[in-house]
Amino acid sequence: QTEYTAIITETHGRVATITLNRPEALNALSNTLITELVSAAAGFDADPNIGAIIITGSERAFAAGADIKAMLDLEYADVLAGGVFPSWDGLERMLTPTIAAVSGFALGGGCELAMMCDIILAGDNAKFGQPEINLGVIPGFGGTQRLPRAIGKYKAADMVLTGRMMDAEEAERSGLVSRVVPAAELLDVAKQTAELIASKPLPAVKAAKNALQAAEESSLSEGLRVEQIAFAALFATEDQTEGMRAFAEKREANFKHR
Ligand code: CAA
Repeated sequence: QTEYTAIITETHGRVATITLNRPEALNALSNTLITELVSAAAGFDADPNIGAIIITGSERAFAAGADIKAMLDLEYADVLAGGVFPSWDGLERMLTPTIAAVSGFALGGGCELAMMCDIILAGDNAKFGQPEINLGVIPGFGGTQRLPRAIGKYKAADMVLTGRMMDAEEAERSGLVSRVVPAAELLDVAKQTAELIASKPLPAVKAAKNALQAAEESSLSEGLRVEQIAFAALFATEDQTEGMRAFAEKREANFKHR
């Protein structure tokens, strides 16, 4: 069992949960926290017994952004050198579905972390924002790119240029969150959703996630090709044979990979 200092990990059946745990700083994303989070997620991604990963924070804060106090004395060259922020690549590349369960503040890097996940579930107390402009900087973990893709240019510019916060209701209306649920039920709903995903045939789940990611990164015709090839490839899996036979035979499918 790896010893982490800024996160807590647990598994329950096929679902892994990573809880950000820096309550003294509203889960501000320190280098240590990011390194631990990416490494824990990569470990779960490589584990065939894990079918979905929940990333969550505390009731008060999912994460209040990058650690401002750690950035106070940095200069251009320090930040550009890249050593300042550990890489998020591991989290962005993995094919196990991730669910952000957001309660309280998801600001700056916190909002950006949520947007790196496949599904965002928000408690009705959630608050989203990209307040970096108030610090003399701009979003640095993908906010200027993912937010417009998620909620459109004009909503995104409103958030990034004013630094204002969005409540859960506005976030749902804008398309930033998958679902809003009562805050007290957030973790239960996240677990149920993760269990449901983890019960599906894994090769299809990973192909679906990969195709959805292609929708963000490519033209329509390229994305359609990714989908078509993946759709055809799934016909080489036992789970496709079983899934379709079970339907025709009016019985429950017994998938091999899940
Ligand atoms: N970094 C470091 N520490 C933070 C922090 C952050 N992003 N956010 C909160 N904290 C700390 C506070 O300094 C405070 O610590 P002390 O008790 O030691 O003073 C503690 O967490 C509690 O915070 P507050 O007392 O401020 O709590 P509040 O309820 O009054 O306010 C808040 C809550 C509105 C979220 C406020 O803390 C806040 O505005 N935080 C900063 C939000 C922000 O600007 N995020 C963007 C960061 S930059 C970024 O993320 C760049 C990027 O894209 C990569």
